[in-house]
Amino acid sequence: MNETKLHDLIEKMTLEEKAAQMSQVVSSFIHKGSSDEKITGPFAGMEVANEDMTGSGSVLGATGADNLRTIQKAYLERSRLGIPLLFMADVIHGYKTVFPVPLALGCTWDPKAVEESAAIAAKESAAAGLHVTFSPMVDLVRDPRWGRVMESTGEDPYLNGVLARALVRGYQGDDLKNDQSKLAACVKHFAAYGAPEGGRDYNTVDMSRRQLMEYYLPAYEAALDEGAELVMTAFNTVEGIPATSNKWLMRDLLRKEMGFDGVLISDWGAVQEAIPHGVAADNRDAALKAVTAGLDIEMMTPCYVQHLKTLVEENVISEALLDEAVLRILKLKNKLGLFENPYRGADTELEETVMLSETHRKAARETAAKSCVLLKNEGVLPLRKSQNVALIGPFAESTDLMGPWSIFGEEKDVVSVRTGMTEKLDTEPAVEKGCDIEAVLPEQLEAAVEAAKQAEVVVLALGEHSEMSGEAGSRTNIKLPDAQLQLVAEVKKLGKPLVTVLFNGRPLDLHGVVDESNAVLEAWYPGTEAGHAVADLLFGDTNPSGKLTMSFPHNVGQVPVYYNSFNTGRPKDQIDPEDRFASKYLDAPNGPLFPFGFGLSYTTFTYSSLALSSEVMEENGTIRVSVNVQNTGAVAGEETVQMYVRDLVGEVVRPVKELKGFSKIHLEPGETKQVVFEVDEESLKYHHSDLTYTCDAGEFIVSVGPDSRNTEEGRFSYSPAGRSGQE
Ligand code: BGC
Repeated sequence: MNETKLHDLIEKMTLEEKAAQMSQVVSSFIHKGSSDEKITGPFAGMEVANEDMTGSGSVLGATGADNLRTIQKAYLERSRLGIPLLFMADVIHGYKTVFPVPLALGCTWDPKAVEESAAIAAKESAAAGLHVTFSPMVDLVRDPRWGRVMESTGEDPYLNGVLARALVRGYQGDDLKNDQSKLAACVKHFAAYGAPEGGRDYNTVDMSRRQLMEYYLPAYEAALDEGAELVMTAFNTVEGIPATSNKWLMRDLLRKEMGFDGVLISDWGAVQEAIPHGVAADNRDAALKAVTAGLDIEMMTPCYVQHLKTLVEENVISEALLDEAVLRILKLKNKLGLFENPYRGADTELEETVMLSETHRKAARETAAKSCVLLKNEGVLPLRKSQNVALIGPFAESTDLMGPWSIFGEEKDVVSVRTGMTEKLDTEPAVEKGCDIEAVLPEQLEAAVEAAKQAEVVVLALGEHSEMSGEAGSRTNIKLPDAQLQLVAEVKKLGKPLVTVLFNGRPLDLHGVVDESNAVLEAWYPGTEAGHAVADLLFGDTNPSGKLTMSFPHNVGQVPVYYNSFNTGRPKDQIDPEDRFASKYLDAPNGPLFPFGFGLSYTTFTYSSLALSSEVMEENGTIRVSVNVQNTGAVAGEETVQMYVRDLVGEVVRPVKELKGFSKIHLEPGETKQVVFEVDEESLKYHHSDLTYTCDAGEFIVSVGPDSRNTEEGRFSYSPAGRSGQE
């Protein structure tokens, strides 16, 4: 349909119909007897009569080709103008074939694999009739108390941007109309949802505009630049005004400055939440605030349906405001080809073959293995298949390995650690639970200790159950529950080689685990193929290559702790240790236990010959930074070589290190490769105090290494013609 026709359609629409297009509900409001509906938020604001919402222009949380075809058909039959419904849902890291949680996907440092995971998610979801996924979440995260860190790719703006692009490409492809195996992507949560005070979900966010632009916006910008069709607003405040009613945020920043012209949807209930936030008196006021601020679709509260019509009739707002939003919504429907084919990819036969196909499972297994991070290994890993192993812990046989946001994945399809290990071992492992996730019985402990006694090596499978992270899953204690720490302590007493595998949704305080274990593998929530991937790694069929994208603190008191921090005026390492007055803790180091970028392998890599092509970068110039990386161990492996830059003297304080490039290479034993990075002006730019994005002349340090802590350094100066020092 061409755009003129869309305008014609809008001409014909009544105010009620326009308001309905601008509302989104779960399918039961539209169609009695719909199945497969997923509820991901409260129903508190939905006290309106069902009839008001029956014309809503989009649905969330329902899936299934048959189900969605039925809903669409019934809707179109009673629709005056024949505008089809849009089906949206949270397909966050896979539909039926569940990939690792996004924080783990980040740890792959592999944009191609991440893109493929999104493409597979899109393929399965599109066959099930979906049109839009509420992904990627690109919120930068620094606080592991916040349960939703598992939905982010981590603490770095540059890496988050690279992966946001990969996800959008994977979901959307090049042509949403003709490629029906693709979904439109919805970037969320705009903006800065990842920085709630105290790590408590939905809590206040407040930060300087410079901080927002420098760290929190780049990943949204990258996703939009890649063509993401929708943006979802955040629950939190930004500069004191809830994001969903924030005119500066949505109209000035997102639409004007960032040039976003797609559909802007609220988060679940966020329009009405302006009332408890304290910036709207009632539903009418909340609708007025949101529509004036430029919000196109209200999700799961009735303010638009109840009040947009009268707001126009009473001349409080102009009808043009509604038309603008409706046009964007119709354009999206049109881009997806829904006017021509309202059933789009929904295909019951394809559904049968595409879900959990062999290729999808294989990709999920490989990506899961890439996403696990080996945190410690005193030579006990890899295990031998002939070894006599005891597998102990609440995750030994659990299939709760997909994380809290895999709402369409089914536990029956998940490979447990027991299954994965049994397939590899010559003799079956002894398996004991040892304790529940948050409680322990003496007999459980006894049985575990007995099993451990008989074994050559003990593998402990520990972690958080999936409800301990995710939305509304904030914790102030980020250790493993006491029951599991007790299990570790009891097994440790036996003095057997101890390997701990962790399943969790956030960086943990690993007191009581790391020192006690001879090896620690952080497996996150690996998804459907969890047990296979973990076993591949434990037995060395795959060499671990994942690297952390979020720092692991020593303890929760250090939080937030992240690698790209400031030096402060009293940096600890530059002040006489005898001097009290340094920026430090009395009872913990400043840095994390495991830093950003860290992860071990079964081989070793040696870095040498760091060289810069020049000591001076001219205006519009580049500097080539090269380093040799050699595999100095006995097995082939993959290494992610990381390049960081530091601006020594900025107009505002610059971080001690900032990731500006990375390269993942494969090396056979003994092999050396030269890795070359280019540093250009773009890598030196930052937001100045007046918010301009430029770079300063002056001295820079470039450092390269296997993680953010352990790097070799070179130095250069940036000297554009006629400029010296920052101006
Ligand atoms: C979450 C969003 C999600 C939405 C729809 C909300 O509660 O914050 O991330 O997309 O629900 O399920």
